Amino acid sequence: MSRLSFILILFNGLLLVACSNTKKNANATSTQGIPSLKETFKPDFAIGAALNADQILQKEPNAKVLVPEQFDAITPENIMKAEVIHPEWNRYNFELADSIVAYGKEHHMIVNGHTLIWHNQLPAFVRGMKNADSVHQYFVNHITTVASRYDGKVYSWDVVNEALNEDGTMRKTIFLENLGDDYVVEAFRLAQRAAPHTKLYYNDYNIEQPKKRAGAIALIKKIQAAGVRIDGVGIQGHWRAYNVPLADIEESIKEFSALGIEVMFTEVDLGVLPSPGEVTGADVNQTAEYNAKMNPYESGLPDSMVQKQTISYEALFRLFEKYKDKISRVTFWGVNDGQSWLNNWPIRGRTNYPLLFDRQFKPKPAFYKVIETKTKAEQKAF
Ligand code: XIL
Repeated sequence: MSRLSFILILFNGLLLVACSNTKKNANATSTQGIPSLKETFKPDFAIGAALNADQILQKEPNAKVLVPEQFDAITPENIMKAEVIHPEWNRYNFELADSIVAYGKEHHMIVNGHTLIWHNQLPAFVRGMKNADSVHQYFVNHITTVASRYDGKVYSWDVVNEALNEDGTMRKTIFLENLGDDYVVEAFRLAQRAAPHTKLYYNDYNIEQPKKRAGAIALIKKIQAAGVRIDGVGIQGHWRAYNVPLADIEESIKEFSALGIEVMFTEVDLGVLPSPGEVTGADVNQTAEYNAKMNPYESGLPDSMVQKQTISYEALFRLFEKYKDKISRVTFWGVNDGQSWLNNWPIRGRTNYPLLFDRQFKPKPAFYKVIETKTKAEQKAF
């Protein structure tokens, strides 16, 4: 071998190593040596996680490392809900909310405020209100104070959460009963005034289902017809791993995006546990008593169920990829299986496995299949 060709081979070799390193850096996390969800899907949509208070305060060492590596969007699981942020008529508690804003800034993540108007997790002083005037005052003050404080600091707000019944009619809540049918339009009008630099969304579960979807579409059209801004709709996505309504989800993406707004999947988790018969959505008020039969996987998830969940997550993300031009964010409702709300809802004290990371923060088979829906599709395209 001549000296020149030796040098050339060496040079090529170095080039190859350099290239593969850049590629690795684009997709790999430094800590676990696994691909990164946020990097993988960056060209298509943001990838989010709901964070609990400990995670926001960076008290969980594993989450502290994993969250910024894997996610570029965060939603507070509870701490921006009215009972936490506005505990008394004249008292707001912004400490934790400020912390999530700082966390998002530090790690270049978008923060979705959750949520301004919801009939659950209301402070006691609101639950006890007896007249429409007080409810109206609370409604105006709450939206105006909270939304203006975080204008331009949170990227978006779930302005109204879960205003609909399963049949698409308006849910009878303290807001509907005291403020009338137009309260959703009014909530968006107030939010628009208070937060001109923040995106405004409607968020609900089961709105991929035909009747509830029709109700959501009518509601969104009503907001638009009033000349009020609505930027997007969040389909929560609390589905069962053995029964994901793919056809309805696809139809919803088409119909919601036809309204000229962003479509997001905002609270995705695919639980594996049996549902008590009456529970078909994600109504936090629907609960059932514990019994051992309803908690079959306490000591581990059987392979058959791991498979089912993996296949469902893969199919779901294939669909998301197909409509990547219409979907702006996919957020998981939690970081790992151990801290998912589905361990305690609708039955307390069960062992569920709904997310992409297990109790040790290790990626599950579904994680790799989700990544492949992007990376394999790319390979095919070349
Ligand atoms: C849940 C939280 O995850 C729980 O910690 C809390 O106890 C109840 O609320 N739809 C929503 C979320 O919009 O705010 C709910 O979060 C889950 C259903």
